[in-house]
Amino acid sequence: MNPIQTQHALTLTHRLRRLRRSPGIRALVRETRLSPEQFLYPLFVCPGEGVRREVPSMPGVCQLSVDEAVRETVAARAEGVSGVLLFGLPARKDEIGSAAWDAGAPVQAAVRAIKRESPETIVVTDVCLCEYTSHGHCGVLVDGDVANDQTVELLVRAALSHADAGADIVAPSDMMDGRVGAIRSALDGRGFEQVAVMSYAAKYCSGFYGPFRDAADSAPKFGDRRTHQMDPANADEALREVEQDIAEGADIVMVKPAMPYLDVIQRVKETFGYPTAAYQVSGEYSMIKAACARGWLDEPRVMLESLTAIARAGADIIITYYAREAARAIAGARR
Ligand code: PBG
Repeated sequence: MNPIQTQHALTLTHRLRRLRRSPGIRALVRETRLSPEQFLYPLFVCPGEGVRREVPSMPGVCQLSVDEAVRETVAARAEGVSGVLLFGLPARKDEIGSAAWDAGAPVQAAVRAIKRESPETIVVTDVCLCEYTSHGHCGVLVDGDVANDQTVELLVRAALSHADAGADIVAPSDMMDGRVGAIRSALDGRGFEQVAVMSYAAKYCSGFYGPFRDAADSAPKFGDRRTHQMDPANADEALREVEQDIAEGADIVMVKPAMPYLDVIQRVKETFGYPTAAYQVSGEYSMIKAACARGWLDEPRVMLESLTAIARAGADIIITYYAREAARAIAGARR
């Protein structure tokens, strides 16, 4: 029995609920589909052998020696993840971050080893100096501030050493002005015209990078990154950043972080129509992990909802620590 007797049948032209009736119909009209092909999986590569050291503020994420990074990559690849984004923990740091362009450092060694074991995996390298400088800033310090043009010279060296090792894509994350153009012309000058540049074009000065700085041991020893990373209040400026990086030769542009900046992802994609990446950063990941560990949120749902929202906003590529877990969840849902 109906609890309420309807007196007059409603005649509705549209009943939007018709297309929500069953899983099959919902799948048929779904606008945004997640696939592990969209994912890039960040890895932290450290010296040594057989090392898997979990990062306390990022459950499930480990610092990995080269051999372990290869294993992790092969496993991710088997689950359908397109590629990895490599960060390095060097054995030594100095004022100018010279380990960043050391051919024998963990990132360069990992690039070679991954390309040998799994040539079809897309290997992207993060190009920045903050993991390599003793002070934790993203470049050369002059009077306590990061000196733009001198830093660009060193970033070029790092990018060339990654290309030399066999990287498919280099990804400058430093936010110095002019680095994309300088890297592009240096790559071309050395015969690396097929190596692509994915620029961290709209990278905000965000509190959500906290756990990453534990993982990569890259927190600035003093001060912050406000003189080069973007003010969270600005979005028009993000379009100018992206426009410049495209003019300088960026092949892929990135917005970072992702979920707090969905409006920026959308505007970048709509304005330029370029391959657009979004980085679900450490703090976004750890926030979900922490709430789920307390039973406050349901992890599989929230993980996929967050990634779906990033894709819906316009991201073609999603960089996420959830790459493997999400790939497995997507495969499970299709079965
Ligand atoms: C800089 C870099 C950072 C991240 C990626 N590249 C940290 C920073 O700018 O301080 C953050 C990524 C994350 O939080 O997951 N090399």
